[in-house]
This record gives sequence, C-alpha cells and structure tokens, in this order.
Amino acid sequence: MLALRRSTASFLTLILWITGLNEVAAALSAPGWFYEDLGEHAQNITFSTSTSTEDYTLYRALWWHSSRFYGLTDATSGASGTVKTDFSYNIELTALPTRDAREFCHNIKAGWVPGVSLVIDMPFPSYPDNFGHWAEALLPVYNVLSQEGWKQSLPHGVEPVLDAIVLVNTQREQLSGLAWVWEVLKLAVAGSVRPPRQLPPVLFYDELNAVSGDAWLGFQVALVAADRYARSDGRGGFASEELGRRFRTAAYSAAGLPLPATAPRTITLLTAVDAEEVTNGEELAAAMVDVGANLDLAVRPYTATPRAPLASYVATMARTGVLVSRHGPMLANAAFLPPGAVVVELLPYNWEWQGISRAYVNLTRTLGDVHHFAWRAGSPRWAVFGEGEERYATWTAQECSSRECLDVNARAGMIADAATIQELLYEVLPPVLKGGPGASVAALARPWPTLEKPSGGTGLWWDK
Ligand SMILES: *[C@@H]1O[C@H](CO)[C@@H](O)[C@H](O)[C@H]1NC(C)=O
Ligand SMILES: *[C@@H]1O[C@H](CO)[C@@H](O)[C@H](O)[C@H]1NC(C)=O
Repeated sequence: MLALRRSTASFLTLILWITGLNEVAAALSAPGWFYEDLGEHAQNITFSTSTSTEDYTLYRALWWHSSRFYGLTDATSGASGTVKTDFSYNIELTALPTRDAREFCHNIKAGWVPGVSLVIDMPFPSYPDNFGHWAEALLPVYNVLSQEGWKQSLPHGVEPVLDAIVLVNTQREQLSGLAWVWEVLKLAVAGSVRPPRQLPPVLFYDELNAVSGDAWLGFQVALVAADRYARSDGRGGFASEELGRRFRTAAYSAAGLPLPATAPRTITLLTAVDAEEVTNGEELAAAMVDVGANLDLAVRPYTATPRAPLASYVATMARTGVLVSRHGPMLANAAFLPPGAVVVELLPYNWEWQGISRAYVNLTRTLGDVHHFAWRAGSPRWAVFGEGEERYATWTAQECSSRECLDVNARAGMIADAATIQELLYEVLPPVLKGGPGASVAALARPWPTLEKPSGGTGLWWDK
C-alpha cells in the first residue's frame, strides 16, 4: 500500500514537472512537492471540524476527492453540524458521516498536506483577468491575515504560517502573464509566509485534478477568507482605514515608488484597452480639458491593459489626482490613489446586479482618504448595444440577472453625458482642491446615484 502511494506521488511529480512551466513551478518541482504520504499521519486523523467567524472559516482535516471537498463527520452522533458545508461562493462541501475517521483513512489511498493551506475561490473564474473580482477574493485574505484572530483558531502545534495556497477553481495557465494578480496575491499574504519566500507553493485546479480519481487528499488546516458574498454585512474592500492605507503603502514599496503626500494636479482619463468602451470618448476628453484649463489641472488619457505589471498601475495612480473612468475592473487600481485624490466613476445603464455598482466605491471608501463620486447612465439613451442586443435596452435591472443580459450590458458602448459629468467636476473639485478641514472625504461625500425606476413596460414578451 505504501509503495503504491509513493509511486502515485512520483508519477504526479513527473506530470507536474512536464506541465508546470511557469513562474512558480520551477521552485516547486521537488519530489512529492505538495503533499506527503498519509503514512503515520493516519493514526492522528480526527473528524473534520470548522471554526467560523464573520471574517473566515478554518477547517481542520479537510478532504479533496474527485473534484469535491469533503468533511468527515461523526456518524454515531449525527453531528454533521461540526463542519460548515457552505464553503465559499462557488463551492459546497459534502459532509461524509463515518463511524471512525482513523479507520476510514486506513481504507483509502491518500496524501496529506501538512500545515495551513489558504484556499481561494475566485468568485467568477471565467473572468481571470478581471481585477475587480480578484480584489473581491484577495482583499478579504489580506484583511484576515493582517489580524490575529485566525491564529487563535489554529490547532495546537500548527504554526501561523501559510504552507500552501490553493486556487481551487483557477487553472495555472489562466494566470500566466497576469503579473498584477500575482503581485496583489503576494501583498495579501505578506507576513504570513516563511521567509525568504514571497509566496508558499501555489496549487491550482490543475494540481488537484491531477490527483488520481480514487485517491484522497487531506489538508491538515484550511483557511477560507469570507468575501463579500459570504459576509452577512456584504462588506467589500479593507477591514479598516489603517489596513487599507498599509496595503497601499506596501504596494508603493513593491513598486519602488514613494507614496505622494498629496494628490497631484492631474486628471487621468482611464480607458480599458479592449472593453468598457465610452463611445464618445473624444467629447468626454474635451470636456475634461476644459475643466483642467479652468481649474489648473493637467489632463492625461491612459489606456490600461490587464497584462501590465502592478508597478505600472501604481506609477499611473501616483500621478493621478482625479481619476475619471467608466465602471470596470481597472478601477480596482483606485486602491493605489494618493490621499486626497478623487474618483469620478461613470456607471453604465442598468448596471446594478447584486449591488455591483458599488464594488469600487466600497473599496475606496475603506481607505477613507479618497473621494469617490459617480454619474449614472439613467436611460438606454446612453447605451450603444451590439447588433441584435438592443432588445435588452428595456429590461429592468431586476430582470437583467442572467449572464447573457449582464454580458450584453458590459459589452455595450456607453455614451457619457459629457456636459453633466463636467458640471459634476465643477461642483466637487473646487472644495477638494481648496483642501483644509472642510475637504475631508466624509464632509464632501454625496449619495450614490440610484438606478431610476423604469417607466412603462419591459422588453419581456408578456409586457409587449
Ligand atoms: C501524532 O500525534 C502525536 C501526539 O500529539 C504527536 O506526538 C505526533 O508527532 C503526531 N504524528 C504525526 C505524524 O503528526
Ligand atoms: C458595498 O458595501 C455595502 C455596505 O457594506 C454592502 O451592503 C454591499 O453589499 C457592498 N457592495 C459591493 C458591491 O461591494
């Protein structure tokens, strides 16, 4: 039995060695690099348990088998309640009642991952280059690891250090070239890693999936940070202003740049390179130039691609005092704006599924020193739908909850109401630029623009 397990391990190592051609794999391809033989650990196996707070869940003896997580629960006491089955946004854990956890383990082919594994469920894995969704997944990790609570929940004798990161629903190749995600992951776990490493071994779905179908993989301790979908208060962003600002400072050090003490007098008009179009971008730019001329601000267009290194976004934010952008994943970089900067976000028509319009204002709000205002496209007049997609124009935000409808709205061009946006800037910028005690974020905050109630019928067939 032991020999069989060993050969499975080395076969797996071989596969990983062949397929794992990327930035981290080279450092990891030691024999049996991500798990040990269950061997003598088997005698210490206990039922699975979990401890939860609003911020995280810590599992003890978490099992992976055939593409699912399992918890071994005590069949004799019927206590499946000892392990939380609601694992994360995309994942359910199956409770597996058994009479004796140790006996169960003697009957299976298994590997063991000792120490603490951080398990990350990317909420929308089909959008691997979406910084917004990565921020939703990684900032909760940062919040948890920067506080002491999780360490107290660890079983006796387990060090409060991450021995592995498991990106359970992401494939290695999906993150290749996405330096931003790797860098933000490093910032999120810094301080909980064995020096001199910046990251512990990172496992992807590829690794888990390569474990043979009849084998089990046990994680001694698994830590799951609660994201905004799991929290009862829906909170996104940083747990406190202090943590948010510390994260920003760490990003500047990682980029080798000083954090500006005050916001520079520059308007940056941000556009994503291949999506989230503002169709009248030139008109909007002209309106910004006009604002710049009157308020003594430089104006700069910036076209961002998701494949630039973190340092490049940080450098751009360092030179930005006013960030004007359509709502989109690039706005996750607003977390790197200097104190006193202003975000003016342009919200597309009908963009409100699960409160999504607030994703980025919730982020900047937790920094406490970045102003954030928005203009919202209140009617389909401000949207340019693709061919054959105009039928969605009359749907209400409630009706627009299918992936297709959301994708159509995300794809649709936006016509920015340049005059109204300009007016907004003329109202909010002078007091910010004047500074002083009256210019705090709280003092100048405005209510978030709500979605206007649609009038008349909808595009649905029963309304026609
Ligand atoms: C099993 O538990 C005992 C007692 O706590 C401990 O001394 C021993 O190191 C453990 N063995 C393994 C392989 O973890
Ligand atoms: C924004 O924050 C509020 C209050 O914390 C929360 O209810 C809401 O779910 C959050 N929305 C997003 C998109 O983060």
